[in-house]
Amino acid sequence: MRSGEGRIELAAYRLCASVAGVKKIVFSEVGGPEVLRLVEAETPEPGPGEVRVRHQAIGVNFIDIYHRTGLYPVPLPAGLGLEAAGEIDAVGEGVSGFALGDRVAYAGGPLGAYAEARVIDPKHLVRLPAGIASSIAAATLLKSMTAEYLIRRTVRVERGDWVLFHAAAGGVGLLACEWLVKLGARVIATVSTEAKAEVVRSLGVEHVVLYSKEDFVARSREITDGKGVRVVYDSVGLDTFERSLDCLALRGTLVGFGNASGKPPMMDPMKLAKGSYFLTRATLFHYTATREELELSSGTFFQAVLDGLVNVRAPKELPLAQAAEAHRALAGRETIGSTILVP
Ligand SMILES: NC(=O)c1ccc[n+]([C@@H]2O[C@H](COP(=O)([O-])OP(=O)(O)OC[C@H]3O[C@@H](n4cnc5c(N)ncnc54)[C@H](OP(=O)(O)O)[C@@H]3O)[C@@H](O)[C@H]2O)c1
Repeated sequence: MRSGEGRIELAAYRLCASVAGVKKIVFSEVGGPEVLRLVEAETPEPGPGEVRVRHQAIGVNFIDIYHRTGLYPVPLPAGLGLEAAGEIDAVGEGVSGFALGDRVAYAGGPLGAYAEARVIDPKHLVRLPAGIASSIAAATLLKSMTAEYLIRRTVRVERGDWVLFHAAAGGVGLLACEWLVKLGARVIATVSTEAKAEVVRSLGVEHVVLYSKEDFVARSREITDGKGVRVVYDSVGLDTFERSLDCLALRGTLVGFGNASGKPPMMDPMKLAKGSYFLTRATLFHYTATREELELSSGTFFQAVLDGLVNVRAPKELPLAQAAEAHRALAGRETIGSTILVP
């Protein structure tokens, strides 16, 4: 195809997309996956300072479930989703730094990623390097930036450190555990099934504990000769949080970063006095608050993928229309690694 013809085709596609509208997922009441509805809306036009991104892949994250169930309340009706990758197909007035045709991804900003296309402030966007496919970006951007800040900045894990990572076969879990192994950390990982354990062991993780059957506190003490671990990463919340504290070595840190089983209970600060422990409840958006942090966090991971240091497991793919099914599987603990929706 000559390049001129390509431009005509692209222009026709844009026109066609504008006329046809965009399909997106919305919800007007909180509840189970069934509250998610696929609707067709007018294609949004970018205002001044905005761009429109035509999505090629959309990331599914546990936070989407918190929004849908009302654990993290949002004004309704609302769109859903915080992460996607695709191409800029319209640019509003006064935008600098991004242009038509740029391959981009984002993992933050207002809800609305579960859509064929959406308008967004480009401050949330990162440019995709040539070797990173949209499907990989949508499957990993939010989760890998989370892994990056957790193990490099909330606590800087060093070679030889003992680390306990819960829900290790999840989207964040697999990426973080692979990275921890590469850093030379001594990893104890928890998972609920043997099938998940097998995948985590294949990353080179030394100790995998089936916390559905085994007492992970006793196992962590046993594995570390009674000393405990330097850091526990706990995204399970309610079911594990207080017991996670009992896995720490003296002056160890409990990093809470999720509520997969429900919000952790209120904790008496005096419980930290048992071992002069540190406690934080960390959130990605506080670690990517500036442009420099966003680029550092995303760039570190993309480079690791390009250098072959991290092997991203192929995500589970579902059509956008099956967002409810994606939620059901994620909340039902059926998934291993990441899930993406394809528009
Ligand atoms: N604070 C942040 O910055 C940040 C950013 C990203 C993600 N997160 C959190 O990190 C966690 C992982 O996110 P993800 O999207 O990658 O999800 P995920 O890990 O793929 O899925 C959640 C996993 O949690 C485990 N789990 C334990 N109890 C559960 C329960 N009662 N219901 C459902 N799952 C349960 C399951 O693994 P097992 O079956 O092995 O137990 C499940 O596969 C989530 O808690 C999320 O909110 C936090």
